[in-house]
Amino acid sequence: MKKVKNRHSVARLLLLSVSLFLSFNTLVFAQESPLSEEEEVVQGPEEASVEAEPSGGDVAAGKEIFNTLCAACHKLDSKSIGPALRGVADRRDSEWLHSWIRNSSAMIAAGDEEAVAIYNEYNQVAMPPFPQLSDADIDNILAYVSQPKQVPQEQKVVGDGAGAGAGTGGGISTEIVLGILAFVLLMLLVILYLVNKTLRRFAAASGVEIPEKPKGKPIWKAFVENQFLVLVSAVILVLVGAYFAYGWMMQVGVDQGYQPVQPIHFSHRIHAGDNQIECKFCHSSARVSKTSGIPSLNVCMNCHKSISEVAVETGTEEYSKEFYDGEIAKLYDAVGWDVAEQAYTGETEPVKWVRIHNLPDFAYFNHSQHVEVGGIACQTCHGPVQEMEIMYQNAPLTMGWCINCHRTTNVKTAGNEYYEKVHEELSKKYGVEELTVAQMGGIECGKCHY
Ligand code: HEC
Ligand code: HEC
Ligand code: HEC
Ligand code: HEC
Ligand code: HEC
Ligand code: HEC
Repeated sequence: MKKVKNRHSVARLLLLSVSLFLSFNTLVFAQESPLSEEEEVVQGPEEASVEAEPSGGDVAAGKEIFNTLCAACHKLDSKSIGPALRGVADRRDSEWLHSWIRNSSAMIAAGDEEAVAIYNEYNQVAMPPFPQLSDADIDNILAYVSQPKQVPQEQKVVGDGAGAGAGTGGGISTEIVLGILAFVLLMLLVILYLVNKTLRRFAAASGVEIPEKPKGKPIWKAFVENQFLVLVSAVILVLVGAYFAYGWMMQVGVDQGYQPVQPIHFSHRIHAGDNQIECKFCHSSARVSKTSGIPSLNVCMNCHKSISEVAVETGTEEYSKEFYDGEIAKLYDAVGWDVAEQAYTGETEPVKWVRIHNLPDFAYFNHSQHVEVGGIACQTCHGPVQEMEIMYQNAPLTMGWCINCHRTTNVKTAGNEYYEKVHEELSKKYGVEELTVAQMGGIECGKCHY
């Protein structure tokens, strides 16, 4: 009889801990999902701007002409080489605009007051004539630039969210969740204790007799005697242990595939791939020093002073043009660049890039040795960077990985005086034509460990 009672309480305890463990699990996994939610929202309002036609022309056709002929010098909402064009039809007479767009120089030469004024305001940069445009074409363009501005609010929110989430890995940090869990558990224990105490006091007061605990047979003993329970708990313990051990081993040291959310969504695919910007243009120290480094924001501004939005074709299913433009806006916020005024405001806020590749301190790795002296392409170690929308760690960066390559890669000695003598001696010693890095000493512990 008593034994059964004990078994119940033990079983209940087990149930409680299992369910706690499960809810903890869901919490941990819930932490990992914000990225995918973000992506979903990003797909939202893609090309919503092509609808209303306020001034009679065909907005879609106008947009196309604008993008091919005018976008190089004009933006809708900010100054570029020429003035911002949104609402220009309200500022100027329609006839004036038609003749200006067909041939602005002729108007300036003819001494049209407004024409000369704006020409001088823009440092006498001549706008090319567009005699090929029909009246309908120009009306279409004007219809497009007369559209009210659409504020992509949703996108903004997404952008900011990604920025805020970057530091913590998505909203609430694990520590806070764990802290709350621990607190709740503690509270539960306290409540249990208090309830028990009060009940006992009530019982004593009203003369109910509480059967004494069976002396000499505490719960743990009953538990040990029940083989079924022991088996079940052993299995659960092993599973839980394996789960955590696996997680621990996966995160210690080996971070292959690590892909954190960065404060600015920076696409290597767009920069190093589509636009063929050299790796070393940005990672300039890879050539000459131990580290490659992340470029300072000034490097970005060399180009982004004039690139404040991406081309329409750059937007993809997954990441819309509005999303990319929002990311460039974050760069502007960080360096304090006012697009409308084309000037720095002086209010800066450093971007905290999350470091991805990171060897432990006791290992020594030198970029220039591999890239400059060894002539190894960045992609050999970092993978197809030019295709990465979001940067991730491609190689395991384990000791075995370094050593394997040193065993199988030959040292490039051609045209390198330093190696000629070393090479001669060592190749005689090993009796080979080509020396591997290993034969040259590349697997001596001291070469990589301080
Ligand atoms: C090579 C650069 C360039 C291109 C391409 C260009 N513009 Fe311009 N545009 C300018 C500049 C610069 C000005 C300012 C006046 C000046 O300096 O001549 C200007 C001024 C204007 C103005 C007068 C704005 C105002 O506020 O009064 C209009 C309208 C205009 N452009 C329309 C167009 C349209 C439409 C196209 C495409 C068919 C176009 N531009 C293509 C450089 C350009
Ligand atoms: C326009 C500038 C630019 C160019 C060009 C560029 N990168 Fe980057 N790279 C960055 C920025 C900014 C970061 C930090 C943000 C990130 O991780 O995405 C970065 C991060 C990296 C990282 C990860 C650094 C870390 O934290 O461990 C690697 C590796 C890398 N780049 C390799 C390359 C290679 C290889 C190329 C050429 C194929 C290249 N990059 C071209 C700007 C650039
Ligand atoms: C050599 C010129 C150049 C440099 C330097 C450069 N960019 Fe870009 N950037 C571009 C071009 C070109 C595009 C794409 C424009 C398009 O598709 O129309 C672009 C697009 C972007 C975008 C939108 C697409 C994306 O990647 O999310 C962001 C954000 C951006 N750049 C940030 C940066 C940052 C941050 C740096 C500095 C680390 C930087 N850029 C340096 C030329 C450059
Ligand atoms: C032989 C393999 C190898 C090659 C080739 C290589 N890297 Fe790396 N890269 C690494 C390793 C390993 C790390 C981690 C270094 C550390 O944590 O000390 C790293 C780190 C980086 C980082 C992070 C910041 C830093 O300096 O630690 C950037 C950026 C980077 N590499 C860019 C490049 C670029 C650009 C090239 C080509 C010019 C390149 N890498 C070529 C192995 C390589
Ligand atoms: C893709 C192949 C490759 C990988 C991966 C690689 N290395 Fe190397 N490593 C080389 C080559 C090739 C050389 C010889 C360069 C030269 O000509 O001096 C070299 C040379 C070295 C040297 C100088 C050896 C000497 O005798 O002076 C050190 C130290 C070194 N690597 C460390 C590392 C570390 C640490 C790692 C891993 C984080 C690593 N390497 C990963 C190819 C590689
Ligand atoms: C080519 C470079 C290289 C050489 C040579 C090398 N190591 Fe390592 N070693 C590394 C790197 C890189 C790590 C860090 C691996 C990681 O973080 O997973 C490492 C890690 C270690 C660790 C820590 C355990 C681990 O795997 O994380 C020990 C211990 C170690 N090395 C001992 C040695 C000894 C002993 C030798 C000489 C026989 C040696 N290493 C030669 C690059 C090297």
